[in-house]
Amino acid sequence: MGSPATSQSFMDQLQALIDAYDSSEADGTFYSPEAIRECVPLTLQDDPLSQDELLDILKAIVIRTPKTANRIFFNQLFGGKEDLAVLADMMVARMNNSMYTYKVAGPHVLIEHELLRKACEIIGFADGEGTFCPGGSMGNLVAMILARHATNPDIRDHGLAANTYVAYTSTQGHYSIKKNAGVLGIGRKNVREIAVNSRGEMLVDEFSQQLRKDLAAGFTPFFVNLTAGTTVLGAFDDVTAFSAVAKAHKLWLHVDGSYGASVLMSRKRAALLPDISLADSVCWNPHKMMGVPLTCSMLLCKTRGLLAENFAEVSDYLFQEETDELNPGTKSLQCGRRNDGFKLWALWKQLGNLGFEKRLEEQFLLRDELVAMINADAAFELILEPALLNVCFKYRGVASDAICSTLDKRGLGKIGHGTFNSQHFIRMVVVNPELGPDDLADFLGRIKMVALDIQAST
Ligand SMILES: Cc1ncc(COP(=O)(O)O)c(C=O)c1O
Repeated sequence: MGSPATSQSFMDQLQALIDAYDSSEADGTFYSPEAIRECVPLTLQDDPLSQDELLDILKAIVIRTPKTANRIFFNQLFGGKEDLAVLADMMVARMNNSMYTYKVAGPHVLIEHELLRKACEIIGFADGEGTFCPGGSMGNLVAMILARHATNPDIRDHGLAANTYVAYTSTQGHYSIKKNAGVLGIGRKNVREIAVNSRGEMLVDEFSQQLRKDLAAGFTPFFVNLTAGTTVLGAFDDVTAFSAVAKAHKLWLHVDGSYGASVLMSRKRAALLPDISLADSVCWNPHKMMGVPLTCSMLLCKTRGLLAENFAEVSDYLFQEETDELNPGTKSLQCGRRNDGFKLWALWKQLGNLGFEKRLEEQFLLRDELVAMINADAAFELILEPALLNVCFKYRGVASDAICSTLDKRGLGKIGHGTFNSQHFIRMVVVNPELGPDDLADFLGRIKMVALDIQAST
């Protein structure tokens, strides 16, 4: 228990660690595993350490941790940070509740209810429900379990009798779909990866053709995954068109909006996702575009009751009080579950819908500025007009992977690369609304400098 004295020391240590982090935040230094092992005593020892010794070690780690909210980080679909959400998340660790029962989580159950209700309302699920998952991969897994159950409710009790189930996603869909198919006993090879158009959007005709082939061959199609904001290109699959085919064949239609569903927070950008309410389930990660620390991911489902139908277990030791409605553990893939809703709710209360809308607009504006800079410089080539916040481009004549790796190793910044239609390119994600045009221009300058160095050395 924290006495006032230990509380003060707790605050002092927290401040010291935050100071260490802040003082190193702008720094992009790359530390190899060997360098880290050399500077930080990682080995777990028998004797306890003094508070000062320990604090020094913790500081050494914080300083050497890659920074994801600084001005030279464009590597991931998340980035930047919202202080209030960070504060709420720190309190989550301090409060240490588990989100399975009202008895243990109290108001946080009601907070989750409100977040899931609001998300369903935004999507257009009039009588929907949802659950928080530890990330989009797990949200997609829950959706696949619901879909499998909708096709054959016997599997939950008796397992898979015959392995004829097939799922559909695009060649640009997230790898979690295949991984989950392996986990579920469906089989990775039974995921059909459907071709996409030049913008990276799944082709409905190709899908229909594959579906007909599979039905004729005796397979049992059960799940169609559409992506709202593909990982590499940021493309949006056409929910309206796919829904028509999926409904005609009674297939579960899932929208993996892990990345892109956040566009629903803007009245203007929601146009990227028309008809999302036609989906049976939607995965939405506020930890990507909305500035909420990892992890914060919701799986929303159109039909109330399906989560409990798939995940409820009788457990006298745990569910001793309250109704299932107040015990979210009966709707979850997990037993003990971290409280990932509080930070989102706190930030939402602070910003309101309008604050999130403004934040999103700033991200899109930034993206447009970046595209304009790339188009204005003949050394760069834009690969395609971005739909979301991924700007894909290359520096003419120099391999993109070499540029990205050199930037990282020289401590100049973190950015990733991707491939589409045999073109290899840099993917710059402008998800941090704290940045401005100067930061983008500076980073393009770094890319250029490194590219020229590579050119000179080959
Ligand atoms: C489209 C898409 N779906 C799912 C995921 C997986 O999300 P998570 O990293 O939260 O598991 C990602 C991750 O980038 C993604 O881009």
